Amino acid sequence: MRGAVTLSCGLLGGFLAFSPAFSPAQSFEKHVAVSQEVNASMAGRDAMRQGGNAIDAAVATAFALAVTHPAAGNIGGGGFIVAYITESREIVTVDFREKAPAASEPRMYLDAKGRLLPHHRAGARAAGVPGTVRGLGLAHAKYGRLPWKQLVTPAAELARDGFTITETLAHSLNDQLFSKRKLEAGGRDDLGSNPDRLSDFPESMAAYAKPDHTRWKAGDRLIQPDLAATLDRIAVEGPDEFYKGKTAKILADYSKQHGGLITLDDLAAYQAELRAPIHSTYRGYDIYGMGPVASGGIVLAQMLNILETFDLKSDGHQSARTLHRVTEAMRRGFYTRATEVADPAYVTVPVEKLISKEYARELASTISDRATPSEQLASFRIVPAEGNDTTHLSTMDGSGNAVALTYTLEEGYGSKAVVAGAGFLLNNEMGDFNLIPGRTDVTGRIGTTPNLIAPNKRMLSSQTPTLVLKEGKVRVVTGSPGGRTIPNTVLWVVLNLLEFELSPREAVDGARTHHAWFPDVLTLEGSSWPEQVRQELSALGHRVRSVAIQGDAHTIVVDPANGRRIGVPDHRRVTSAAAGD
Ligand code: DON
Repeated sequence: MRGAVTLSCGLLGGFLAFSPAFSPAQSFEKHVAVSQEVNASMAGRDAMRQGGNAIDAAVATAFALAVTHPAAGNIGGGGFIVAYITESREIVTVDFREKAPAASEPRMYLDAKGRLLPHHRAGARAAGVPGTVRGLGLAHAKYGRLPWKQLVTPAAELARDGFTITETLAHSLNDQLFSKRKLEAGGRDDLGSNPDRLSDFPESMAAYAKPDHTRWKAGDRLIQPDLAATLDRIAVEGPDEFYKGKTAKILADYSKQHGGLITLDDLAAYQAELRAPIHSTYRGYDIYGMGPVASGGIVLAQMLNILETFDLKSDGHQSARTLHRVTEAMRRGFYTRATEVADPAYVTVPVEKLISKEYARELASTISDRATPSEQLASFRIVPAEGNDTTHLSTMDGSGNAVALTYTLEEGYGSKAVVAGAGFLLNNEMGDFNLIPGRTDVTGRIGTTPNLIAPNKRMLSSQTPTLVLKEGKVRVVTGSPGGRTIPNTVLWVVLNLLEFELSPREAVDGARTHHAWFPDVLTLEGSSWPEQVRQELSALGHRVRSVAIQGDAHTIVVDPANGRRIGVPDHRRVTSAAAGD
């Protein structure tokens, strides 16, 4: 099929309902871009139509998402790229994670009594130094083919001319703009010093509220003139504009006026880094992921290595025995994440050991027929209890270049604060540091030393952009949002394809599970799980809970029979689309 676009669609304005198989996976002869939003996927496809490669497509898609998917698409956040470069036959990874501003310190979000202050979540002070524009710039400068301006301009046009709002985006924006708590308090802002919505920031209202201040509805147009002007400057002057030009000045001024720490010096000093990929294998396939400060590559490799020692396929895809072993692999992978992984510039991460088959065998031998209590893994005290959004895109071109790119503002709409005059949201990524030194508790709060805040340090991430290769050729491009669920979502996509040999559509649709060491709870996605499986898992000692959806893995699978690229937009967040030729 030529020039096709596959939209995913679902029920209930796409909010929670996860309805499998509403759109088929679609295969393309030449190239494909798969992302959360159709205009963004088309921007990627168009870049490849114009002679660009998968890297150009990923850059164009990512800039477009910053306009059309404001909850997570961004220029004010950061993320990671794992790419295959056909010409040199190498896997390259780009780390464009945010960094703590130079004036940061470990207890900056705590009051005198050691309690967390609200500004770790919202407002300028929650933001790390953004990395997205540098990261996309570095990837493009080293591996892109089309002129930079050609990749950024479509996003600027989407911002200037506007684009049609879907029901999902209308719902998401209305949720941010019309605060229930305000309505209950008769319109008074009762959030005080605890802002947590776009409506708490006049500059964010200016950017995202409908001009007549009514609710957004499907079919409306969102126009973002300040963002258009910022993107135009970046298009013309290059990535340096964001870090050293007018945008940098606007951002640093905004930060200063609103209690943030990001300075012009922080911006000028920010660098994206090329890093060694994490390489592991699973039943003869090569798995490539992102290294520290992303934990996803290590955690995924370790979980796969552990699971390779079992015969999951014989035990059955969603049998209690398989789920038990997968959960125990997750528990151990996430203990590793909590104790070993952090910014490699500050901490020595023993990567080789953590992803070795030998260590995995050792860990697998500690898995018994019962759930291991999570406390048992730790050599330190776990404190008893007291108390969305990211996006992934995948691109692949006709020459076999492929890009898995995950980036984020951390929570949906990040810090909720739009940089006045520049039109983009700042991240609230500082919350990914361990904010309370020494406090690791049963709710999942982690206080281990490696990921404490320090000046200029990158915060730990769960992002897991992933490539699977066989005999030197890309077979799968995947990744997901979902905070700590991310490595586990990717684990399920990979297991479904490689271990259980499901079709691409089934592999992405398949109900997922999550365990993150703490909280010591196993969550099952959706309502399709047989009661008997739940009961068997409980009998093994697992605390089983349900969640509506887990992750959003926009995936490409290459058909080994004919090399066609199968675009598999995940339906869970509904507006996703594959676009290709
Ligand atoms: O980098 C991380 O691990 C988190 N900031 C990701 C947050 C996230 O995925 C939220 N989305 N759904």
